[in-house]
Amino acid sequence: MFADVVHSMEIAAAVGAERLREIMTELVERSASVVQRYGGTVDKFTGDGIMAVFGAPVALEDHAIRACLAALGIQEETARLAAEVKDGDRIDLWLRVGLNSGQAIAGEIGSGSFGYTTIGEQVGMAQRMESVAPPGGVMLSASTARLVEDAATLGEPELVQIKGADVPVPARRLLGVDDGHRAARRAESNLVGRRWEMAAVEGLLDRAIDGHGAVIGVVGSPGIGKSRLVREVAAMAAARNVRVFTTFCESHATDVPFRVVVRLLRAVTDVRGLEDAADRGRVRARVRAVMPDADPEDMLLLDDLLGIADPNVELPRIDPDARRRRLINAIQMARKAPAVYVIEDTHWIDEVSESMLADLLTVIPQTHSLVLITYRPEYTGALSRVPGAQSIALAPLTDPETATLVSQLLGSDPSVGELGQTIGERATGNPFFAEEMVRELAERGVLRGNRSAYVSAVGGAEVSVPATVQATIAARIDRLDPMAKRTLSAAAVIGSQFDPGLLETLGIEPVLKDLVGGELIDQITFTEQPEYVFHHPLIRMVAYESQLKSDLAQLHRRLAAAIEQRDPGAADENAALIAEHLEAAGDLHLAYGWHMRAATWATNRDMVGAQTSWRRAREVADRLSVDDPDRASMRIAPRTLLSGHAFRFGGGGTDTGFEELRELCTAAGDQVSLAVGMTGLVMTQWGSAHRREASHLATEHTALLESIGDPTLTVALSFPAMVVREEAGEMAEMLRLAHRVIDLADGHPTVGNLVLGSPLACALALRGEARWCLGSPGWRDDFAQAAAMARAADPISLALVNLYTYALAIPNGVLLCDTTALRETANALAIAERSADEISLYTARFARGITLAHHGGSKRDAGLTLLAEVREAAVQQRFTLQIAPIVDIHVAQQEASSGHLDGAIELARIVLDDLFDSGGAIWTVLATTVLVEALLRRGTDEDVRVANFTVERLAAVPTDPGFVLHEIWLLRLRALLARAHGDAAAYVDFRDRYRDMARTLGFEGHMQWSEAMP
Ligand SMILES: Nc1ncnc2c1ncn2[C@@H]1O[C@H](COP(=O)(O)OP(=O)(O)O)[C@@H](O)[C@H]1O
Ligand SMILES: [Mg+2]
Repeated sequence: MFADVVHSMEIAAAVGAERLREIMTELVERSASVVQRYGGTVDKFTGDGIMAVFGAPVALEDHAIRACLAALGIQEETARLAAEVKDGDRIDLWLRVGLNSGQAIAGEIGSGSFGYTTIGEQVGMAQRMESVAPPGGVMLSASTARLVEDAATLGEPELVQIKGADVPVPARRLLGVDDGHRAARRAESNLVGRRWEMAAVEGLLDRAIDGHGAVIGVVGSPGIGKSRLVREVAAMAAARNVRVFTTFCESHATDVPFRVVVRLLRAVTDVRGLEDAADRGRVRARVRAVMPDADPEDMLLLDDLLGIADPNVELPRIDPDARRRRLINAIQMARKAPAVYVIEDTHWIDEVSESMLADLLTVIPQTHSLVLITYRPEYTGALSRVPGAQSIALAPLTDPETATLVSQLLGSDPSVGELGQTIGERATGNPFFAEEMVRELAERGVLRGNRSAYVSAVGGAEVSVPATVQATIAARIDRLDPMAKRTLSAAAVIGSQFDPGLLETLGIEPVLKDLVGGELIDQITFTEQPEYVFHHPLIRMVAYESQLKSDLAQLHRRLAAAIEQRDPGAADENAALIAEHLEAAGDLHLAYGWHMRAATWATNRDMVGAQTSWRRAREVADRLSVDDPDRASMRIAPRTLLSGHAFRFGGGGTDTGFEELRELCTAAGDQVSLAVGMTGLVMTQWGSAHRREASHLATEHTALLESIGDPTLTVALSFPAMVVREEAGEMAEMLRLAHRVIDLADGHPTVGNLVLGSPLACALALRGEARWCLGSPGWRDDFAQAAAMARAADPISLALVNLYTYALAIPNGVLLCDTTALRETANALAIAERSADEISLYTARFARGITLAHHGGSKRDAGLTLLAEVREAAVQQRFTLQIAPIVDIHVAQQEASSGHLDGAIELARIVLDDLFDSGGAIWTVLATTVLVEALLRRGTDEDVRVANFTVERLAAVPTDPGFVLHEIWLLRLRALLARAHGDAAAYVDFRDRYRDMARTLGFEGHMQWSEAMP
């Protein structure tokens, strides 16, 4: 490249030689930094311009593009400087730039600093191009134009007259380089083997384009060729005009929630390098253009996820679960065009991204997309088990394949034959190992010459090669110049991808050229802020691990500060990452604070993310020194939150860590934390249908709250114990607890809204239920008050009020499935779908399902379908298993009413036995009823005998005084039994008492049923 100032003599005349030198120095400095940014070398300063070389000694497309970008960048700088000098000096400053590509001769390679001097015809041609460029323009020779024509916008070919040539030569003006252009890859050796794999992926790619998308897992050990396979697929896709979006996971970001999924979505929506609010606004508009049909509120959620939210617009107030459902739905709806998505090194994925992607990928088979997920064999997470996914395990290359690869790398000179064999054997089929060995030998001087054309001065047997790929990399890093080594080490702390700006913030003067030259790192963007990546994760790992602990700590500490300072507005979003770096720096107190901050941020976005950060905070607190005065409270806080929220994490909350919390709280005398943590455990045990454990814990929890004696805490945390009592049918105790909450809340719907938005509304509904069960008056009033209050409360409270109003009362003949019930349950479900957590959503679905299942007409089937869905979710540990028997009873009831008595009896019997075995519950009576009625309808002698026994078994269940729930059903069942025995008088007696009781209690269902009895 040549760049020269136009009319420099005239400028000199106008401003004087002194001033001209000043201006020139400024221009040269600015230009040189542009050249460096694009990986070029300023070769020499000509009198009034510069000459620079990119990628000597071999011209590649990549280098040509970089030179073009540099040329445009220099023109921009010149324009800026021109504007400055125009005012002061009243001169016009213009630059011409000329580029040419070709073989140039460079001296002295390998002496560390490269010190090129390029000569020859090629250089002359660049200078000629400069001379014919228009002021402010860039002119390319034919050879450069050919290399960049795919990626650059060029003027029409023209013929120009140059000095020293008889005939005009072709040239083209450079007008621009395509936005976002990523320079071409380095020259790679030809793909060896992998025929079958490529054919398989190609088939799947073509099917995907036709609308039968697929997910492919590419599995293999490091260096085996996963990324290479993906690159080949990307090239295949590009040839079919299919876009490829790539993201990667990193070893140090495994605990940074959302990282990977956000990066992938940013790639898809082309969000990067946001500088200011205006950028964000522009990107928001673009994302909306891509998703014109999306719900406007969903778009706000997406903005927040992508980090482009408008700080002046409030986010919808919804539960993280709802946020996730809606985001997934919106994203799944969005992209229709064929595309390839790549997630690299998934063994390092964070949990939130993992589970979000697992959900997102469920629709891939119905799309035009191909998803490639690469990971090492040890990864067994959700993305290695995507239903319907194909998996390709990459085996080591075979011996002949390895030999082919090695000879490609070395070339065919006889002197390298023996060495090639040694490399081939040592590489054990790992292509990356083979490549690294060749690089190492070349750097050591054992191999001389160029890639693919090496000669060796030494025989193979005399040369030692490192035993492992890690050792090979370590040897290469060791040999680096100290500045380059420092750059590489610091970069390894930053991550797989880094930019020189950040390195400078860490106090490192980046020396990148040798690293790029040695293929330790690759430059991937060539814009204002160039970016680099490690050539392979193993290089980063070795570079990281070969540092002194104290140096590492210092880098991590500076990096944490730099991340925070770079974007203070995103400090919450970056909290998890900052915490990781501070932890690596050994600053445990600070790291703890940032982990907790990350968790708080995540509780509004994704509970899995919150869980990850609390766990990390817990680990950090445990590492504090024993005499640290804050240790106890820091160990307790994250454990309390983990345990308290355990039922929200799915998976049955198996590991709540509660026992440890109990010990710590007991030692520290911290009863409040214990009570909060225990709440989650009670819910978890209840949710797993461990009735006896749940009951013991509920007793303990109630006593604990009473001994603390804090009214608000009692209101906030009494709910789990009430739920456990309700399910166990211990209505007198439930009534007592509900009364107390209602008294303490003293009419304030939101007091104690730690877990539930309105503990009072829930307590009112529960008291209503307890009251009718115990035959006490006032239950209709409780239900009415609860409903009114819940309408203004959060979706969780609304769903629960619906549940406790209808789910027990309708099947047990207390309330009818009337228009009110239909309207209320539909409303609660709609609200839950838009904004509630998973548990509330299933609660709302369950209440709705039960209500519909008791609808006299057409809605019944829809109800049963809904119930079946909820049951499935419970089996998958996404909802309480307590509902499984309830759903089964309804299925049995449906079987019986459609005449399948055998099936109904079989199922009802199993359910009933289970309920008795596990400690009995409020649903025993309904199971008994379904079984007895079906038995009596089938009516064999044996059936009647079993029915009799079943009724007596229910009658023998101890209940609270006044417990009418069993009593009223028993009257009906005894009447039916009497009729089966042919005892007409007894039948009439029981029937009439049944009718009286139904009327007295005002139980609407029983009134209808008893009147219908002959
Ligand atoms: N089949 C192959 N033929 C030629 N080179 C290969 C082959 N597989 C991998 N390589 C090269 O080996 C190196 C390591 O491969 P890479 O795909 O990065 O490994 P992984 O992603 O599995 O860690 C790369 O430079 C790649 O180009
Ligand atoms: Mg890889």
